[in-house]
Amino acid sequence: MKNNIIHDEWKIIEEGFNPENNRISESIFSIGNGKMGQRANFEEQYSDDSLQGTYIAGIYYPDKTRVGWWKNGYPEYVAKIINSANWIGIDIQIAGETLDLAKTKIEKFRRVLDMKTGVLSRNFVATMPGGQKVEVKSTRFVSIDDSEIGAIRYSVKALNFSGEITVTPYLDGDVKNEDANYDEKFWTEISKEIKAEEGYLTLETLKTRFQVTTGMWFSVLKNTNKVDGKPENAIREKYIGASQKIQVEKGDELTVEKLTATVSSLNHPKKQLVLQAKKAVKRAATAGFDKLFANHKNCWLKKWETSDIKIEGDIAAQQGIRYNIFQLNQTYTGEDERLNIGPKGFTGEKYGGVTYWDTEAYCLPFFMSTAPLEVAKNLLLYRHKHLSKAIENAKKLGFNCQAALYPMVTINGEECHNEWEITFEEIHRNGAIAYAIYNYINNTGDKEYLAPHGFEVLLAISRFWSQRVNWSAEKQKYVMLGVTGPNEYENNINNNFHTSYMAVWTLKYTLEVIDFLKKEFPFLFEELIKKWKFNEISETTVWKEIIENMYFPFDDENQVFLQQDGFKDKKLIPAAELPVKERPINQKWSWDRILRSCYIKQADTLQSIFWFEDDFSDDQIKRHFDFYEPLTVHESSLSPCVHSILAAKIGYEKKSYEMYLRTARLDLDNYNNDTDDGLHITSMGGTWMAFVMGFGGVRVKNNRLVFNPFLPKKWKAYSFRINFRDAHLEVKMERNGFTVVNHSNQKTSIQVWNKQADIEGNKHVKFKNSK
Ligand code: BGC
Repeated sequence: MKNNIIHDEWKIIEEGFNPENNRISESIFSIGNGKMGQRANFEEQYSDDSLQGTYIAGIYYPDKTRVGWWKNGYPEYVAKIINSANWIGIDIQIAGETLDLAKTKIEKFRRVLDMKTGVLSRNFVATMPGGQKVEVKSTRFVSIDDSEIGAIRYSVKALNFSGEITVTPYLDGDVKNEDANYDEKFWTEISKEIKAEEGYLTLETLKTRFQVTTGMWFSVLKNTNKVDGKPENAIREKYIGASQKIQVEKGDELTVEKLTATVSSLNHPKKQLVLQAKKAVKRAATAGFDKLFANHKNCWLKKWETSDIKIEGDIAAQQGIRYNIFQLNQTYTGEDERLNIGPKGFTGEKYGGVTYWDTEAYCLPFFMSTAPLEVAKNLLLYRHKHLSKAIENAKKLGFNCQAALYPMVTINGEECHNEWEITFEEIHRNGAIAYAIYNYINNTGDKEYLAPHGFEVLLAISRFWSQRVNWSAEKQKYVMLGVTGPNEYENNINNNFHTSYMAVWTLKYTLEVIDFLKKEFPFLFEELIKKWKFNEISETTVWKEIIENMYFPFDDENQVFLQQDGFKDKKLIPAAELPVKERPINQKWSWDRILRSCYIKQADTLQSIFWFEDDFSDDQIKRHFDFYEPLTVHESSLSPCVHSILAAKIGYEKKSYEMYLRTARLDLDNYNNDTDDGLHITSMGGTWMAFVMGFGGVRVKNNRLVFNPFLPKKWKAYSFRINFRDAHLEVKMERNGFTVVNHSNQKTSIQVWNKQADIEGNKHVKFKNSK
């Protein structure tokens, strides 16, 4: 379903208000700053269908698990980053009647999200049931410069009447999660205070006992003059507000500036929360809306300087890629290793805002290439901090010797997923976490990360793999039974190619890392041996045995590795032959039918071929792509990007572009008909990869950036920014050539279409298009 988003290079624009699309627009126009996020709910009341959503990074509730048939090893709870106090609320009453877009006639509705400056604005004219017409303008942002602060400027103009307008800025903690397993409210009140134009509300989560204080300060102007007068306080459980009644003449405009602070016990001692909120509110009020905005805007401009992608000749595509970059930067800023990236970020309740393998597999590359090193490193440290929990998790399932199985879904290191075929079997996630260590080091050159962090994680994962395989006397090979690959449309299968490949690769890489540590960090390595009771000879002998003798199902007829044992028993009918009305199959078919079908939800065999392309010849890659892609229904948003990159690699430029388009505007065009749930944030990392690794053909080989770019037919040119180690490059692809500009002082060496060159700091090099 197409949404009514107007194409623009820097702005997301919606004209006209359509209540049926309200939840979709609430997701699309979400704003955030890495520490919190806010759906595009209205400041004024709205009594029709809406998903109210304010989410604070790291503040979660362990919602007691609900399952039909309990299995040993299931987690007790599902962690959810929960809906938190509404800080945006400003009630408006006109002659005693509440302004509510569900109950008024609305004209000239226009909503704009300016991605360049990270600000959301909305204008409309409403006619109240009593005939009074008002023009409303609102602007808000959550500061990316001072992450505890949010700011709103909200004005109401009397267009055709004189009379009384009441404005009530408020904070409301009486909020719920729609997906609460037992219809519970997750917050209790700790304290509240309100006086004059300032108020503070402190709430605590049940069970986890996080405390959050939300503070507000507001002022009201009539035209340009501050309105004096004593606001009337409104107080009820978990709610504080302050009402001011103001007489207006026709043409008068009232402007409310509401500046808020959100501080939590994640970052401050509980006893000091109110004090900290007061400090933050004071900071905000002293600066004022305009200065806060100027600082916020400067921060955004800096982010764009290192992460922008420009497309010439296609405004829809330009808007799409910037939207992906904008949302990634809004979701994760990377200063805090306790935080991570939920598949929906802070834009909805689905997936609970918690961490999946998506982070390592799809998001890490974006942050590695566009942000300072610490940002990507913190994503890795997050998993390192969870190592002991991953070991506990594996132990619960019967593994020993400090083997680790990282959870499928987590916020604090504990497993939160409870479908056995995923929780216990979708173990390829362990491989993604190991691969991320390699990928990070290959990109950043930060080999020191291996000692001890990277090594500890790799060792524990390798121990898991070595226990998870078993020797098949019949096959005279090691096998891996009872797994689910990334393709969740197959469960409990044997010898999933991707999972087994990840296992073998992890073992090989860990062996390499051991050699490296012995050479470069011999003393530390000795300590690590003791700490982890690592019996190098006996353990690595087993690993080598597995590496040499792992079983991978292979099909002689098509000369391809099979996704799993028995894949060829299925009736292989291309997805293109599925009637349109039967798609998506996950909404139209029974699970039984899906499991028995040949249809692949997302890249599975192709996922490891993508990660380890150098292990395969171009012919092999082509054969696998030709075999699997036609059977793939791409019903995970994470699917098209991998296919787009592989298609580019084998010269299928049209296919690469087609796959790219499916991810780039996925949410703006509500392609999967599910944007109302929230945005596909982690898949946006995939979009970035599809652009840079697909069209740009970027790889890191032998400590050098390699480009193999092509220009999609519809476009005139594109350019993107990429950090490599200390060099900051901007590359531009045009019909006749490819230019690389070095914006840093750091000399670097690159390869473009097989030609190598060194670029001095602040110089550029041009390459003729050889295609
Ligand atoms: C995908 C998983 C992914 C999860 C969260 C599922 O639909 O199959 O691979 O981790 O969504 O994005």
